[in-house]
Amino acid sequence: MLEVRNLSAFYGNSQALFDVNLSVGKRQLVSLLGRNGMGKTTTVNCIMGLLASARGVIEFDRASLVGLPSYRVAQSGIGIVPEGRGIFPNLTVEEQLRVFAGERDVGSKTWKISEVYELFPNLAKRRSSFGNQLSGGEQQMLAIGRALMTNPALLILDEATEGLAPLVRQEIWRCLKQLKHEGLAILVIDKNVSDITRIADQHFIVEKGRTVWSGSSVELESDPSISARYLGL
Ligand SMILES: Nc1ncnc2c1ncn2[C@@H]1O[C@H](COP(=O)(O)OP(=O)(O)OP(=O)(O)O)[C@@H](O)[C@H]1O
Ligand SMILES: [Mg+2]
Repeated sequence: MLEVRNLSAFYGNSQALFDVNLSVGKRQLVSLLGRNGMGKTTTVNCIMGLLASARGVIEFDRASLVGLPSYRVAQSGIGIVPEGRGIFPNLTVEEQLRVFAGERDVGSKTWKISEVYELFPNLAKRRSSFGNQLSGGEQQMLAIGRALMTNPALLILDEATEGLAPLVRQEIWRCLKQLKHEGLAILVIDKNVSDITRIADQHFIVEKGRTVWSGSSVELESDPSISARYLGL
């Protein structure tokens, strides 16, 4: 479904990505792992059309995304939960869900606000609260809900549970499992490797802008030297 090959990218004269490779199949939950500053967010920004210097292959449903503006990438069916969440402080929960409501209709699920509330009952209780009144966990649920309102076929989360309390983290993982079960493909970045190995089908590790390892959860867990070497665990 998503295929990234030989991806390189620059910030000015400084090369951030050299050779990133990853793929996400239909109904798969895939992780992109790596220590701070190794190129995860840069990779996501390239996929989302936010970095003009991206070179290489980025294909979604066999169509190239390279060079497309980010609104076209979103229309093609990729929903993003960005690093830092990007919540509007002065719009209510419900307003923010409405702003993101997609016109995309390619036969995948069409999300209603009521369905986002079913997925996250806590958000329903907060529907009239402003973005800046929400806890970190509520903000992340809203960021996921907004991305779902664009009716994606692939959901990308950059730092899915960063800074969240253990119980809230579990709530996010529960929701991602359910979304995968409903047929969504998911690419997730997160530092909680033990949580991620429990739910992901496949992992890709980047180091200094290169994909240095990929494999299944069983492979990752069976060789502790991989996390020690590339993730500092
Ligand atoms: N806007 C920018 N301008 C210049 N260099 C940048 C910019 N954003 C990121 N970089 C550099 O690109 C490299 C990759 O950064 P990136 O943000 O992709 O890492 P990351 O894996 O997402 O890290 P983290 O886990 O801290 O979020 C780093 O060396 C970083 O300093
Ligand atoms: Mg990042």
